[in-house]
Amino acid sequence: MSAEEQAQGAEITIDANDDTDRDSSFEEDVTAESTTSLNDSILQYRTLHGRRYHNFKDSEYWGPNDESQNEQLDIGHHMLTLLLGGELFLAPIGDHPQNVIDVGTGTGIWAMDFADKFPSAQVVGTDLSDIQPRWVPPNCKFELDDAQLEWTFPPAHFDFVHLRCLMGSIKDWPYIYSEIYRCTKPGGWIEHVDMDIEFKSDDDSVGEGHIMQRWSKTFIDCGEQMGRTFLIGKRSKGLLEAAGFVNVVEKRYKVPVGSWPSNKGLKTIGQYNLLYCVQGLEGWALWILTTILRWSYEEIQVFIAQMRAAILKRSNHSYYEVIAVYGQKPETKTKKAAPTAEGGEEPTESVLSAGAAPSASAGPS
Ligand SMILES: C[S@@+](CC[C@H](N)C(=O)[O-])C[C@H]1O[C@@H](n2cnc3c(N)ncnc32)[C@H](O)[C@@H]1O
Repeated sequence: MSAEEQAQGAEITIDANDDTDRDSSFEEDVTAESTTSLNDSILQYRTLHGRRYHNFKDSEYWGPNDESQNEQLDIGHHMLTLLLGGELFLAPIGDHPQNVIDVGTGTGIWAMDFADKFPSAQVVGTDLSDIQPRWVPPNCKFELDDAQLEWTFPPAHFDFVHLRCLMGSIKDWPYIYSEIYRCTKPGGWIEHVDMDIEFKSDDDSVGEGHIMQRWSKTFIDCGEQMGRTFLIGKRSKGLLEAAGFVNVVEKRYKVPVGSWPSNKGLKTIGQYNLLYCVQGLEGWALWILTTILRWSYEEIQVFIAQMRAAILKRSNHSYYEVIAVYGQKPETKTKKAAPTAEGGEEPTESVLSAGAAPSASAGPS
């Protein structure tokens, strides 16, 4: 069974021989530190306890934008691509997309990979942070932008809108989805892939009261307190349908933390995920726990150390879900000729169907 199939199954089987010192080969990597026209103030980043943060107007985003966190995002990109069976997306967008946007693009790695794969496409990646490379494929560009503001792209412009890992970042999802709907071509697609940050297990190795569950609950609660939910993955399907998208498909994947699955593909994904989590922990926690819960730096470091130890513990068979949702803007209303009293034809309105619902296995060709 492929890793992609097993990740969507009821339970991930555990590798009984996973008795190596849990992913110690990653230890070194884990701790290693490894454009456009801009206005100076945006480039004067803010710092908090030695970590660097964006400075885009009044926008608030919890993640650092420094070297360490950006490296972590690129590890995440690799892991998520493996999870989707080596694909960048699932929506059946056809072979010749023209205008494509990656909202909250981060390091821009998805946008650049997409541009390389589809030379026909003009790809734009937007973000609050100017952290994308300067040398990019000729059909790819990046813009500083807050996706929560009114969209300035033309209506009915995009063939494909992609969003990934924006949990805890957005105040008003219905508003963003309605702006995306407005700026998507009739027949065009949206795909939103997000992480459900609840660490859990099927064998109760990570159960009620476990540090990994307390960690999840802490950030889920903070998200609700900030008015920027971390639960968007689970809510995305309903919100996309409410925004008017049709043929909406949701797929849920269990993403193991560590090398504990017996399935070879999932074992690899779990190893990347372990690295992704350990390298991400401080960046996930620092701003939120400092500004929302007002914890001291020392308290935060203790919490991170406990979580780190739990993640590295071989007998914890934890996972969280990645939820991928895609949907289509209905085809436009078109004028259809109807006979007139004089025997001529007069245009009337009719609605074309949005096309057959894609099959569960639909994906990029
Ligand atoms: C967890 S990262 C994910 C990056 C990328 N989508 C990926 O999957 O690799 C979230 C990104 O969203 C950006 N972001 C957060 N809020 C945003 C907003 N309101 N408008 C644009 N970008 C935003 C952050 O700056 C950050 O780069």
